[in-house]
Amino acid sequence: MHVLLATSELNPYSKTGGLADMVSALAGALADPATGSALRVSVVTPLYRGMPAAHPAIEPTSWRWAIPMGDSLVEGRFHRRVVSPNLTLWFVEQAGFYDRAGLYAEANRDYADNAARFVFLSRAALILARHLPDPPQVIHAHDWQTGLIPILARHAHLHSGWANPPRTVFTIHNLAFQGSFAASSWGLTGLPADWLHLESALHFDRVNFMKAGLTQAHAITTVSPTYAREILTPEYGCGLEELLLKRYNDLTGILNGVDAVEWNPESDPALPARFSAADPAGKAHCKAALQRELGLPPEAGVPLFANISRLTDQKGSALIVEAVRHLLGAGESLQLAILGSGEKALENAFRDLAQRFPDQVAARIGFDPALSHRIEAGADFYLMPSRFEPCGLNQLYSLRYGAIPVVRATGGLQDSVVDPREDAARATGIKFTPYTEGALQKAILKAQALWKEPAWFRHIRHNGMVADFSWEKQSAEYVGLYDSVCRE
Ligand code: ADP
Ligand code: GLC
Repeated sequence: MHVLLATSELNPYSKTGGLADMVSALAGALADPATGSALRVSVVTPLYRGMPAAHPAIEPTSWRWAIPMGDSLVEGRFHRRVVSPNLTLWFVEQAGFYDRAGLYAEANRDYADNAARFVFLSRAALILARHLPDPPQVIHAHDWQTGLIPILARHAHLHSGWANPPRTVFTIHNLAFQGSFAASSWGLTGLPADWLHLESALHFDRVNFMKAGLTQAHAITTVSPTYAREILTPEYGCGLEELLLKRYNDLTGILNGVDAVEWNPESDPALPARFSAADPAGKAHCKAALQRELGLPPEAGVPLFANISRLTDQKGSALIVEAVRHLLGAGESLQLAILGSGEKALENAFRDLAQRFPDQVAARIGFDPALSHRIEAGADFYLMPSRFEPCGLNQLYSLRYGAIPVVRATGGLQDSVVDPREDAARATGIKFTPYTEGALQKAILKAQALWKEPAWFRHIRHNGMVADFSWEKQSAEYVGLYDSVCRE
């Protein structure tokens, strides 16, 4: 079978969050003969600024085309990287759309033409699917940026002579971002005006790309079983819960895995020392080096907490600021390492906290993948008090790197961390439920208590380090799903 994955970001070429990691790791696992699936896999994604220079293996092809959009004809060209016999990456060149400083936004402002930019990506994906010599049987689209692919494929089948278009799978990575645009942007799709209605992409008089994917794809997935249930409720459904309930039988939650090559403490080139579950000694060295790097006193006896994330309400960043401010104000002994960027108010709140407690808190505002690896390796605990979390990858990286996760019991956090109250023998972390600063404070105090019980601490840390979150296991679920949509 040949599957085409369509995505707006792909690690290591472009990344703002977990979508990039997920698609790149899924593609690798699906194409890997060692996993037993050995599918033919293609990935289509934009060619953003700086990518050809940073990745010389990406080669321009002579495959150029043009798409009528509104009043203009927009030209595009494919670039390509053949990674292995089973895996080819296709990059869509359209300098006017993608040669920019940001992927979606600059200075926290979305680009005004994001509808056009991602309609273009979706239409380019269909050109590829239709004209490749070995066409895919399935297109797997990810998040709102590629949400129009299923309806575009359906239209091409009914009205432009595409006899056998691929089946479509649509994955929700985050329902909070839906790609909602003025109804006038429908013209960009090239679809007839009467194809925009409440059963397709129309949502409160606007075009909603996420809704288009949810109504039109043959199968829908999201990135954890718990989030798959949560989004059927008004609290998590972001206004699409009724539609999701209607499609309940076509909705599956499949937990993400960890890219075991990029995230392996035994071989990670970003780390000052290597370690493993069997031999965790190098972790102490990583902690001391991280403390020095961040300007924190290199005290082995003080537990080091960390968080790496987009600074937004979703991630509970404000809860971390408040809980840590109170605990440090009350004289608790702990350190906190923060790496993140996002909302200005939160960036400033972390900067202020670091200024007020310079020996306890270090805040690095920015996006720094290598530092994120060193933080996972140096931390004793990892805080993830998310309001909602479709899957979450950092708790998985933390488990592998021996930073015990302290998480709110939601979405993929609920599915990937075991609290001692659930199963003491298999416990891997600490969970709490209310989205409040007080509940997070209590959970941090539990972590402090655990820190003072070295045997118990080592038991929980070891369980996490050996837990299996391999993509080998998870990708098999996608293969089963692709098979089933092709059989329908
Ligand atoms: P989300 O996709 O919602 O942001 P995930 O936990 O799925 O959350 O994935 C976030 C990914 O982005 C992780 O790989 C994380 O390490 C990375 N990341 C987030 N913020 C930063 C940052 N400031 N610097 C480096 N990596 C970051
Ligand atoms: C989204 C979610 C995150 C998930 C990631 C990859 O960005 O917010 O929870 O891990 O997608 O699927």
